Amino acid sequence: MTAYPYEVHEYDVVVVGAGGAGLRATLGMAEQGLRTACVTKVFPTRSHTVAAQGGIAASLANMGPDNWQWHMYDTVKGSDWLGDTDAMEYLAREAPKAVYELEHYGVPFSRTEDGRIYQRPFGGHTTEFGEGPPVQRTCAAADRTGHAMLHTLYGQSLKQKAEFYIEYFALDLIMTEGRCTGVVAWKLDDGTMHVFNAKMVVLATGGYGRAYFSATSAHTCTGDGNGMVARAGLPLQDMEFVQFHPTGIYGAGCLITEGARGEGGYLTNSEGERFMERYAPTYKDLASRDVVSRCMTIEIREGRGVGPNKDHIHLHLNHLPKEALDLRLPGISESARIFAGVDVTKEPIPVLPTVHYNMGGIPTNYWGEVLNPTADNPDAVFPGLMAVGEAACASVHGANRLGSNSLIDLVVFGRAAAIRAGEIVDPKERNRPVDGAGVDKAFARFDGLRHAKGSVSTAELRLEMQVTMQADAAVFRTDKTLADGVEKMTAIAGKMDDLRVTDRSLVWNSDLMETLELTNLMPNALATIVAAEARKESRGAHAHEDWPKRDDENWRVHSLAYVNGTDVRLSSRPVHLEPLTKQEDGGIDLKKIAPKARVY
Ligand code: FUM
Repeated sequence: MTAYPYEVHEYDVVVVGAGGAGLRATLGMAEQGLRTACVTKVFPTRSHTVAAQGGIAASLANMGPDNWQWHMYDTVKGSDWLGDTDAMEYLAREAPKAVYELEHYGVPFSRTEDGRIYQRPFGGHTTEFGEGPPVQRTCAAADRTGHAMLHTLYGQSLKQKAEFYIEYFALDLIMTEGRCTGVVAWKLDDGTMHVFNAKMVVLATGGYGRAYFSATSAHTCTGDGNGMVARAGLPLQDMEFVQFHPTGIYGAGCLITEGARGEGGYLTNSEGERFMERYAPTYKDLASRDVVSRCMTIEIREGRGVGPNKDHIHLHLNHLPKEALDLRLPGISESARIFAGVDVTKEPIPVLPTVHYNMGGIPTNYWGEVLNPTADNPDAVFPGLMAVGEAACASVHGANRLGSNSLIDLVVFGRAAAIRAGEIVDPKERNRPVDGAGVDKAFARFDGLRHAKGSVSTAELRLEMQVTMQADAAVFRTDKTLADGVEKMTAIAGKMDDLRVTDRSLVWNSDLMETLELTNLMPNALATIVAAEARKESRGAHAHEDWPKRDDENWRVHSLAYVNGTDVRLSSRPVHLEPLTKQEDGGIDLKKIAPKARVY
């Protein structure tokens, strides 16, 4: 093995990733007086949160009646009763506080006439525990909410003297005697190696949308934290639940925000019919995402798709006033023009359900502490390691996330992780010495890939994985597609040992970088298809045609996947059914959130 000299950096906390969750955690940690570094493979404001459009959910009640209990109910129902009750209560209760903090940090939210934060309707967000009309709960900065948040959080983190290591790629966690003690990283622009030795490592590395062929996710969404966790022998949770956003631009995959339907947009089929009225008579185009994506897919399958190949659907905004489009939806008006050649004031946008979000990820409690379930304790915490944001599974989204519950998840749990770290990380305590064996293990893997001399290129293998996942772990699944998918994905993962890397350089080596990313995508993809094949029911985003009903008796459990090479071992842990607060102390009435049929 080539010897890699390295520089050591000592911190109380190292956050990996600088999207919304990573920056909110970084800011919070620094505010707590913890010496904090943020290590990120892209410049912070280029993290994928920048692409978040429609907004952030919180029951501010600026546009009409709302409260945290209604938000919690909608989240429970959206999750198809797979979310953890304590975490969902924490999310809904803390959301208004987290949004007002963002406002005070300087996020330039859109405003109502009287100067309050503007809120728009989003799918699955309702009033009166699902009995009333849609609620305007999604706080928006036009259709560039994520962009506004990232810039604000980055500026505030710098102000709090958090230190940024930009364009450093995290290779592996350092695990020492049953705890995480740091992370090894490769600096992309000069090829040097770095060891971040810390009392707490926070993974905020985002989702793994790029395991699929067509995704709204950036090319950087390669599930790096999940990959590191899997290599460390820890489980991934609920990986079978992959969200398809109803409105990716046909052919390009770029997101057209659900806020477009929130502002009055609607979907039609080839007969010009507003078909959602048939499937979801109450909430129509504002039903939950998994529901709308399925209905679109059915319309296409039954021959009512639009276009020469009848393979997509139309989204209409052309009836909305131009001033409203300019004020509330300027970004997607531009995206539609650039990526679909459409003037939204005149023509419908061609759209298709597109991979958008991973409900599954690294299991955590609602403080962001990573779980390492044991037979005796399904909630056992793995010391020294936290995960937040899309990389994590807290689990508030269960089997299906509601639109705009992602941005609120990022800030609520980024903030929660900082609060918890303030309690358990002692800045006066010395760090453990650097674990040389752990560092060498990371370098051995890196070096092996750098000199890989097999017969398959990274691009070829990645494409095989993406095409298989797209075909076999799709909106609708069957026993056959999933069994085929498991067989194909196992064979594809087996070819990782036969990879060929042609560029051996250590500086700006995209071949090696993409290979490392593929080693992270692969366990995510494998866990997804294997867990999907095993789950014999339909719940949320997992729509199984051979098992069309939800089966609470046997399947209201979180799946756990331990991935080791091509081998995936499945296990499970119970869903948390207890709320944080009893009803007599001001908590939600549990009867309101008891499982029932999920109709919109
Ligand atoms: O449709 C959107 O603006 C996406 C929001 C989300 O995924 O939460």
